[in-house]
Amino acid sequence: MALLFLSPDDPADAWHAALEARVPGLEVRIWPETGDPAEIEIALVWRPPPGELARYPNLKAILSLGAGIDGLVADPDLPDVPLARMVDPSLTRTMGEYVLLAVLRHHREFDRFERTQRAREWAYAFPPQAADRRVGVMGLGELGAAAAGRLAGHGFQVLGWSRSPKAIEGVASYAGRSELHNFLHRTEILVCLLPLTAETEGILDAATFAALPHGAFVINVARGQHLVERDLVAALDSGHLAGATLDVFREEPLPPHSPLWRNPKILVTPHVASYSVPDTAADGVAANIDRVLAGKPLLHQVDRARGY
Ligand SMILES: NC(=O)c1ccc[n+]([C@@H]2O[C@H](COP(=O)([O-])OP(=O)(O)OC[C@H]3O[C@@H](n4cnc5c(N)ncnc54)[C@H](OP(=O)(O)O)[C@@H]3O)[C@@H](O)[C@H]2O)c1
Repeated sequence: MALLFLSPDDPADAWHAALEARVPGLEVRIWPETGDPAEIEIALVWRPPPGELARYPNLKAILSLGAGIDGLVADPDLPDVPLARMVDPSLTRTMGEYVLLAVLRHHREFDRFERTQRAREWAYAFPPQAADRRVGVMGLGELGAAAAGRLAGHGFQVLGWSRSPKAIEGVASYAGRSELHNFLHRTEILVCLLPLTAETEGILDAATFAALPHGAFVINVARGQHLVERDLVAALDSGHLAGATLDVFREEPLPPHSPLWRNPKILVTPHVASYSVPDTAADGVAANIDRVLAGKPLLHQVDRARGY
């Protein structure tokens, strides 16, 4: 069995070693040294060039190296074989860390102190207790549920919004479009962890910001296409929103001319909120390779009609 490994961002040699140690007889071929395309049965990929996966006539499954598969399903030539997204304890843990850090930075006003320090201003003020701060997480999947649980464990009042209702300890569940406004209305720090689909594209827009209380913060760690950037800048300029943390952008790398770079109320990070490491992620990938060999359905298989 030959597996194609294709990623501009992941460590190919470490993945090669981790997979061959876990799956006896597996041959890992690192793109572009693919050998005979007809021998490739599984593709493990992140951001392959559009059309590339159509070159492998005997492909049985596509395993994504990322949790988000929006880039893959946007390829009109993507082979119609089962597709699984990445679920990895390191990915989940690092996302939880980033979200907690970003929420605490706004909650404890470090964003404001960064600005007042530059003005040599002694801006003494008491922030509210975590128990008096409401944090809303959009998307309660693998990453959102864990992040929400971590925030609840820290003592915040946590609300979550998803397509179907959820029972997560310490997290008030809101579901569907009909409950979105109530969720937003109660949310002081909004975290977006939705997958990018036709339904969620542009969801962080003027109407969403207007539904948040005055002085709210927005943290986007999902996809850049969730955010309408000009609406965010307008809401920050008007003072309705107090700040934002953005890890993902419509265009990545964020171009030097983007006004987001120099907005003092926005923290920009370069799509680093979470990352998987082969040491932990290879267990799940190996389990899925075994399932392909056994003709079983994949773990974490994407529902292509739903888009996630
Ligand atoms: N910045 C980074 O470094 C980074 C890293 C990894 C992932 N991400 C992003 O994070 C996203 C989430 O990952 P995940 O693994 O947590 O995804 P997931 O397990 O597929 O969970 C998706 C969640 O979103 C909810 N949802 C989907 N469509 C919805 C809609 N129209 N309305 C309301 N809720 C909706 C789902 O609701 P149900 O549970 O009811 O189905 C589910 O709770 C990825 O798609 C990716 O874009 C970013």
